[in-house]
Amino acid sequence: MSAYAQLLDAAIRDLEERKAAGERFVAVAPATLGALAAPLSAPTPTRAKPVESSAPAARPAPAPRAGGLQPPSATPARAPLFPAVQPTRTSVAAPPPLPALNISAAGKPAAFAALRERALACTKCPHLVTTRKSVVFGVGDPNAQLMFVGEAPGADEDQQGEPFVGRAGQLLTRIIQATGLTRDKVYIANVLKCRPDTPGQSYGNRKPRADEMATCLPYLLEQIQLIQPRVIVALGGTAVEGLFGQTEVRITRLRGSWMSFHGTPVMPTFHPSYVLRAEDGPDKGRATKRQVWEDMLQVMERLQMPISEKQRGFFK
Ligand code: URA
Repeated sequence: MSAYAQLLDAAIRDLEERKAAGERFVAVAPATLGALAAPLSAPTPTRAKPVESSAPAARPAPAPRAGGLQPPSATPARAPLFPAVQPTRTSVAAPPPLPALNISAAGKPAAFAALRERALACTKCPHLVTTRKSVVFGVGDPNAQLMFVGEAPGADEDQQGEPFVGRAGQLLTRIIQATGLTRDKVYIANVLKCRPDTPGQSYGNRKPRADEMATCLPYLLEQIQLIQPRVIVALGGTAVEGLFGQTEVRITRLRGSWMSFHGTPVMPTFHPSYVLRAEDGPDKGRATKRQVWEDMLQVMERLQMPISEKQRGFFK
């Protein structure tokens, strides 16, 4: 890829991130515009491919989907000339664009089934293979507009082969229902598909390690590429760490601000287990629940879902 194409890709990524964060206007100096225009007016064999075909927002308009969500408004064609600017919005870098899978809508069910088969047979983490009962692939609508990503299955999920079915999962189900959706209208998955082992312990769960999440991440990437959700909700700091390949993410800082994962808007929020722990506090977790609900309202707005006065006022 030429230097110019790299610069252009970096600029597009930055703009996607800003757009996902709600920015609508970017100041561009005329001199910068002129400099960026120069290579376009003198095409060379190594010139970047047209911006609209490489930018995630340019993917074909999705067919109407199940789930009661309004179809998104059309994204206006974007002018290709923008300067590259240093990302300043969050301390977590946006990952580079994903190569397209090039799978037609008709081919998607088979591709999804094949991905599931591969994941269920995975033996990349031998220490997890020997202790797992299930590979917890994911659950919900493969055409969902909204996807939830958690960290890893716990004991309950390992037993049942389904993500978020324990106490934290039941809270997640109630959060989903509060938006007017149901579990089968969204998609729910984890970064790590196997329960982290707890050597010498017959109970309890542990946080997945960075190397385990990195090993498993390709399955989640493919899930996201096939589902093409319009919004991802990252549940907790560990999910953000796994998705973005970072360590020591501070979810208290990140939550509530849009991030961009390969062009898909991500809303980081608290993990339901954190909310449950907050229930032991003096306010019985009300402040934490309110923050999670504010994050979900942002998600609903982004998806152009109807929001009733009652929903707006849940924590007022
Ligand atoms: N916590 C997670 O992050 N994922 C699950 O599936 C269950 C609990």
